[in-house]
Amino acid sequence: MDGSSLPSLRGRIVVLTGATSGIGLATARRVAALGARTVLVGRGESRVRGIADSIRAASPGAEVDAVGVDDLAVRAGWEQVAARLRDDYPTIHVLVHAAGAMFGERQETADGIERTFALNVLAPLGLTLQLADRLIASAPARVVLVASAAHRGARVPWDDLEARHGYRPFAVYGRSKLELILLTRELARRLRGTGVTVNALHPGFIRSGFGHNTPGATAATVRVLASVAGRSPERGAQTPLRLISDPSLDGVTGEYFSNGRIVPGSSASRDLESARRLYEACLRYLALPGLPDPDRPAHGPVAAAKAAPA
Ligand SMILES: NC(=O)c1ccc[n+]([C@@H]2O[C@H](COP(=O)([O-])OP(=O)(O)OC[C@H]3O[C@@H](n4cnc5c(N)ncnc54)[C@H](OP(=O)(O)O)[C@@H]3O)[C@@H](O)[C@H]2O)c1
Repeated sequence: MDGSSLPSLRGRIVVLTGATSGIGLATARRVAALGARTVLVGRGESRVRGIADSIRAASPGAEVDAVGVDDLAVRAGWEQVAARLRDDYPTIHVLVHAAGAMFGERQETADGIERTFALNVLAPLGLTLQLADRLIASAPARVVLVASAAHRGARVPWDDLEARHGYRPFAVYGRSKLELILLTRELARRLRGTGVTVNALHPGFIRSGFGHNTPGATAATVRVLASVAGRSPERGAQTPLRLISDPSLDGVTGEYFSNGRIVPGSSASRDLESARRLYEACLRYLALPGLPDPDRPAHGPVAAAKAAPA
């Protein structure tokens, strides 16, 4: 399905993080033009409102809302976004996680968590979990996570999830995207049968704001390469748009896409035991109950019924 043959999204409510720049913004523009009620999540309420105004100006009649947040990397940020979405939207059909970044030096958020892990991994998981019941009630619904081919070659650092030792920006970024794909597969497994699908994607190598506010040599190299060889944000929006809208993907879940197609991803990204282990490790950070495990009936209602005295 190319960009010109996307179906109408009229009647759908699509929420996007990272909607103020690059791939997320280009995706939001097309989603709004296709008729969805489009909810932009981004830093700075008045700034996001201005972006919503500009999208409406370009697509007269488009319904575009703005949800501001100070910092999605901190718990108070994604909790506040989740609360606002829950209050304002009884139905959410698509949740797109495009916010993400690489940091030139190791930083910690106000919660004391390494910033790459907090923004690229914990925030999308926390927001998804807090909206899971809303998505299930809105099914068929989709969760779309913008990962990266940078996950290739990465391994989950089980004893150093917060990169305390030997911080290297691109390596830490790459493993955050591996972790995002693993969480995609685990969320998909846990949501199977609910009508909510969860898929991750690589958008391509895209000229965007990526690395622009990041000091250091790695980010500078990425910026120069992207300015020479990167594709447009509109091109970067193509795979997200397919995952948001293509009816042939109804029911497709737990997959990783690149160039609009399912691709395997690295062998580490297909390790379902790692996916389960990482999800559980992240839940300990988030201190959230998480979703029931359909493959462990020992914890489910069936087991409870079996355990009950006759
Ligand atoms: N560009 C590429 O070649 C490429 C390749 C593979 C994957 N990706 C992924 O694609 C996604 C979008 O990146 P992009 O290339 O479009 O870069 P971008 O132009 O820098 O967009 C990143 C988005 O994330 C938002 N963001 C960053 N930190 C945030 C925070 N703490 N709280 C709330 N929002 C925050 C940014 O908001 P502000 O506008 O406020 O900064 C912006 O909207 C990222 O997940 C990135 O890892 C990009």
